[in-house]
This record gives sequence, C-alpha cells and structure tokens, in this order.
Amino acid sequence: MKVLIYGGGAREHALAWKIEQSSLLKKLYLCKPNDGFAHLGEVIDAENFEKLAQISKEIGINLLIVGPEEPLISGIIDEFRKEGIPSIGADKKWAMLEGSKSFAKEFMERNNIPTAKYKLITDKSQIKNVLDEFEIPVVLKADGLAAGKGVHVACTREDAQNTLEEFLEGKFGEASQKIVVEEFLEGAEISLISLWDGKTLLPLIPARDYKKLLSGNKGPNTGGMGAYCPVSLTLEEYKELENYTNTLREALIKENAEFTGVVYSGLMLTKEGIKVLEYNMRLGDPETQALLIHLNTDLLEVFKKLSEKKLNEVELKWKQGQAFCVVVAAEGYPENPVKSGEIVNIEEVIENNEINIFYSGVKKIDGKLFADGGRVLSVCKTGIGVQKDIYDAIKQLDYENKVFRNDIGEVSVFGKGCCKDEGTGCNCGK
Ligand code: AMP
Ligand code: GLY
Repeated sequence: MKVLIYGGGAREHALAWKIEQSSLLKKLYLCKPNDGFAHLGEVIDAENFEKLAQISKEIGINLLIVGPEEPLISGIIDEFRKEGIPSIGADKKWAMLEGSKSFAKEFMERNNIPTAKYKLITDKSQIKNVLDEFEIPVVLKADGLAAGKGVHVACTREDAQNTLEEFLEGKFGEASQKIVVEEFLEGAEISLISLWDGKTLLPLIPARDYKKLLSGNKGPNTGGMGAYCPVSLTLEEYKELENYTNTLREALIKENAEFTGVVYSGLMLTKEGIKVLEYNMRLGDPETQALLIHLNTDLLEVFKKLSEKKLNEVELKWKQGQAFCVVVAAEGYPENPVKSGEIVNIEEVIENNEINIFYSGVKKIDGKLFADGGRVLSVCKTGIGVQKDIYDAIKQLDYENKVFRNDIGEVSVFGKGCCKDEGTGCNCGK
C-alpha cells in the first residue's frame, strides 16, 4: 500500500514508525512532517486539500491517515473522498464533535450520553441568570478550537463573571462567541480512544494523559506532558466502559456517522459513573505514542480493515506490562518556549536504554538537530517497571533547558477536587 500520513508532531512520528513496520507497506508519504522524522517517507505537499487529494490520486496513494484536528475540521477527508481515496479521520461534519463544544453537548443530550449539566451563553445579558444555576467551581468552555486554552475552571463567581465577559469580548475570536457553562465534575480522567467504521466501534486499551505542566498536577494546562496505558481499572469500571461504548455506538449509528476514523472520548470516572468531558476526533497526543509502542498488531492491517468497514474482523493484541511516554519540553513552555539547544547524543541514549524517542518541536540545521520550542521529544518505553529507564534516558540526554514531569505513571495525582487540593482540571491556581 502507498500510505500518506498528514501532520508533524510526535503522534505522527509514532504513526510513521509503526506503519513502517507493516508488511503491507509499499511506500510511505508524509505531509508536513517535522525534521525529526521526515526521512521516514517521501514528503509531499500542496497549496490546499483539493490539490493534495489530486496529487495523492496521481501518485496512487491508497490510504490517508490524518493526525491533527485542524485539517479534519477544515475538510481534508471530504476532499480525499471526492477522489475516492480511503482515509482514517472524520469528515467535516463529524469533526465538529471536537470543533464545537455545543455541537458535542447537543449530540450527547439527544442520545442520553452521560455528561456534565450545561447551559449555553452567547450574550453578556445571560451571564448572571446562567451562573446562578451553577455551584462553584464552574467550568467555562469556549465553543470552538482555542489551541487547548479554551477551558477555564472558575473558583469564584467573580472569576466566572470576568472570564465569561473576556470570552464574549473575543478572547479566542469567533471560537469564544458561544460558551458552554458546565457543572464541575470530580474524579479520575481516562482517554478512551476508539476506531469507528460506521458500524463497529472498537476501543483501544484505556490510556491516561497528564495535561498539567508540573509534577503533582500543578501549573498551567499544556498539550500533554506524558501518558501511559493501559490504565488499571476495576471490573466494575471496565463494565461501565463497555456500556458507555455501546451507548456511543448506538448514537453514531442512529445519527448516520458515515466516516472511517477515530472517536476519542475524554471521560471522567465520577461517583455517579462515567461522564464525557469532551470528544476529539483524532488520536490523542501523547497517548498515541504510548499506545502504539504497546500494540502488537500490524497497524496498517488494522487501518486497512477500518477503511474497508471491516473493523469487526480486527482483533487488537497488546504487549505485557504498561507503556509510558514522558514529554520533554523546552524551558518556558507553554507560554514562551525557548527555541534553542542542539540535541547531541540521541542515538546513543536510545540504544543504551532501549527506548523510543518521537520528535515534535525539532529542526535540522546543517544535519544537526535542534530543539525548536514547545514540546520537543516524547521519550517512551513499554514493558514491566520501565519508568526508571525512561527517566535515566532523559537524564542522559545532552541538551539544555529540559522541562518534564517526574511523575508520569503516578496515579495518586488524579481525582482530587478543585480548590480543595490541586487536582484534575483545576486551573484556579490555588
Ligand atoms: P476539555 O477540553 O473539555 O477536555 O477540557 C480540558 C480539561 O478541563 C479536561 O481534561 C479536564 O481536566 C477539565 N475539565 C473539562 N470539563 C470539566 C468538568 N466538567 N469538570 C471538571 N473538569 C473539567
Ligand atoms: N492528550 C489530549 C489530546 O490529544 O487532546
């Protein structure tokens, strides 16, 4: 097969690494890879998705795999569909489950999918009445995409009022002209990433990501500082996940969700059972890095079946133990990351510690690799008791200004209440 992977983060590097191992692969093509993994395939690009789809058709690409959400929301899948090229990803219509919080809330409401109680605000005159209906802390979510910064947990009424005004005044432009005001939920979060072919919804093993910058779940929210899988759950929790998957599957069928791709449910395990915090229509980053090193099945075979709507024939096999991914970011991340520092001894560190490193913010200059801001590396390993190897490797990495959490895999940081302790979802700074 000729396969095109779209996207340039560590998630797409992990996808390329895994797809490359498939016996079904004839040639790998990459669109917008970063310099750390561009050598794994032939790089192609075009001025828009229509042209990219035409070029892909000419080359004979058999499968498109899309990593990030923006191209899905902008309709890349719809363009490839016009050319008859199978793809992994949601079309423009269904990408809205991620692209609009209110679209997602209404979908859940119509289909009795458990989620936090909510109200919509589109005008300042509604603020007082709506806030009166909620206890504090209360969660405020800009409707559209806001680079991961559109969710605010307000710990006082004043904070809620001010934040809502700021949002409506255009803090995130169009994306915050509509706001979901939502009940604050307490519990441990899990990422349940499922494959969907229009009939079958196939969940991967449950994963967990660490969104806060600092160890102990402190500091600002980030794109994700680490992940692990599988999450240990009780039998009862597994049963609940199964029920949730059935409910979601029925909803997708009822609403004719005709695409072959991914539905990522951000779930909270609350005292009253599982509730949905959000939907993403793509693989999670950094969860994917952990999931793919733990997967024993040929991913391209899985994606081929998925694109042929034969997911019911797929059985996923996983390795022993648990997989961990620790993100190494640049100093100053997420606000003002420093864009410097050569990464010298990566190959040696990979070999010595038998780890995988996937690249995100890196740039090659004269054949040398430099950290180029934001999240830089995903350092990963799977097995039993492997966290130490990852942290040893990070210590050995010869590059300055490393920022990383030292508690990836630690579960006690989850499930604490906002404002009482610093816990899941709380960004009130107390
Ligand atoms: P979202 O983008 O909707 O997943 O929100 C980002 C993060 O905010 C989540 O991963 C949670 O940690 C937190 N969060 C979102 N909604 C709620 C909620 N209703 N209650 C508590 N925390 C939440
Ligand atoms: N790890 C969270 C996300 O991919 O959105």
